Amino acid sequence: MSSRAFPPDFLWGTSTSAHQVEGGNDNNDWSEWEEIPGRIHDGTRAGRACAWWAGMAEEDLALAARLGQNAHRLGLEWSRLEPEEGRFDDAAFARYARILDRMRELGLRAMVTLNHCTLPRWVARAGGWECGAAVTWFARFARKCLEALGPRVQLWVTLNEPAAVAGAGYAMAEWPPGRGNLFAGLRALSIMLRAHAAAYRTMKDIDPRCTVGIVVNAPLLEPDRARVADRIVARLQDWSFLGAVIHALETGVLLPPLRAVPKRIPFLRRSFDFLGLNYYGRYAVRFDAREQQRLFGRHVQSPTVRGAVVDWGQVSPSGLTRQLLRHARLRVPLYVTENGIANGPDTVRSGFVRDHVAAVHEAIQQGADVRGYFHWSLVDNFEWSEGWAPRFGLLSLDLATQKRELRPSADAYAAICRANALEP
Ligand code: BGC
Repeated sequence: MSSRAFPPDFLWGTSTSAHQVEGGNDNNDWSEWEEIPGRIHDGTRAGRACAWWAGMAEEDLALAARLGQNAHRLGLEWSRLEPEEGRFDDAAFARYARILDRMRELGLRAMVTLNHCTLPRWVARAGGWECGAAVTWFARFARKCLEALGPRVQLWVTLNEPAAVAGAGYAMAEWPPGRGNLFAGLRALSIMLRAHAAAYRTMKDIDPRCTVGIVVNAPLLEPDRARVADRIVARLQDWSFLGAVIHALETGVLLPPLRAVPKRIPFLRRSFDFLGLNYYGRYAVRFDAREQQRLFGRHVQSPTVRGAVVDWGQVSPSGLTRQLLRHARLRVPLYVTENGIANGPDTVRSGFVRDHVAAVHEAIQQGADVRGYFHWSLVDNFEWSEGWAPRFGLLSLDLATQKRELRPSADAYAAICRANALEP
């Protein structure tokens, strides 16, 4: 392997999630949330989104393949597949089967996420991730997906960023269900981890050879200053958001603050064949007694990449190397399952991609078993509480006409994918 080449079989792709690209869904918690004035910062809704459900998935994926990509991370929408409790929709399964078949024809290996931020309305009404029954419901859903789509999928992801969902929707009130209660957040997170474990066990029981992992958000959280108070809150944020979740996955035990008293979760221990890391940037954490909801740490890094509500942090490729090396000790393959930047004019994305791919390369050189990189995202899509303002796509999207255009960064990324190396 030359100094900047990647291992053979390295996966190069992009990531999408169902609700953000599919369009035309009014049966999940987000579609309900979007109807409430003020919830989506720019007042938009997912609406038709990128019209993937209506047929555009195949076209965009064909373009991804032409751009040298050999994989795609696709999300399934639970509310389509199980619109009412216990009623599974064959037509919806058939639609995903067609998309996955097309991906195979295009030479795109499939990483499929079972749950990416949305819940069917019937689950949400029962209390969403605060409802203990969600564990069984999710495991049953996972079984159905494996039975219906199994041979078409190389890598399964149970949940995307459980700590982010529990934080934004339950501990805070930025996402549905808008609970704004720290204890609700902790309960939701522990139920999500139980649901993950139950889904993992169920899938492995049906097909021991299927490969199942989980995706966490792995920002780099560093003390702003050398002061003890900054160091403590940075560690506390990192532990609560990431460390405790990884510890739980590794040992099967939820420690404080996830539970007041340590608790072992059935089947959770080492319930992942691989780990996906979503990485956007670095935060400088400064102690601030008023920031109760954020465990007394304010994020003060400058410059930073910020939307109206979301702060994606400071661009810091070396942080990605560090997070990969930190998780390499888990001794499972690692994937960068998301990494990208909101940059509609595309002035910085090409450099961002190259620098982060170089950071992945560096981690591999230092011994991390990284098997793939999925850029967020293939095409501009609905960015949750930010609406349509942030533009993350290698392809730009004109929402009204559904016209796509390649951004220059799409070519920059294509050169890397085709060469399987940083320098062709
Ligand atoms: C989420 C994506 C989101 C991206 C950019 C990630 O944490 O998984 O759904 O679009 O961040 O904000």
